[in-house]
Amino acid sequence: MWPGLITDSGVANVLPPVQLDVERDAWPSADAVVCINMVHIAPWSATLGLLRGSAACLPNGGRLILYGPYRFDGVFTAPSNEQFDRSLREQNSTWGVRDLSRIGQRAEAVGFDAEPDIVPLPANNHLAIFRKSGASS
Ligand SMILES: C[S@@+](CC[C@H](N)C(=O)[O-])C[C@H]1O[C@@H](n2cnc3c(N)ncnc32)[C@H](O)[C@@H]1O
Repeated sequence: MWPGLITDSGVANVLPPVQLDVERDAWPSADAVVCINMVHIAPWSATLGLLRGSAACLPNGGRLILYGPYRFDGVFTAPSNEQFDRSLREQNSTWGVRDLSRIGQRAEAVGFDAEPDIVPLPANNHLAIFRKSGASS
């Protein structure tokens, strides 16, 4: 939520936003991490930074929740996502719709369960909910 929206809405239970480069900054501790529409519009190194930073800032049992379009075992869930992937790569060769099993492998390496809970959402997007188990390889 943007600073103005927080103020305007009058909600009392939302902290101000924190500027965070997932690849660089020290992360504040958190009860959960929600990442919306980032991993496909940033280099793969940003996904790795997101996983590392989330693992470091969450307690065991904490959740990293990703939202966006994904491939599953290399397969696109819809032609529109395949087209979207092409247009992303044309804009920037380091972008692209990520494979969730590849994210899962890297997530497991930093202490999350490899298999996220998956929630299908409209427009061929998904939630992928990774649970921090604490065991990293
Ligand atoms: C398409 S926008 C999505 C914005 C918003 N989450 C939404 O869904 O409307 C992609 C976002 O990825 C963010 N992003 C890219 N690289 C990042 C990085 N290294 N650390 C943090 N955020 C990053 C950009 O700042 C941008 O806000």
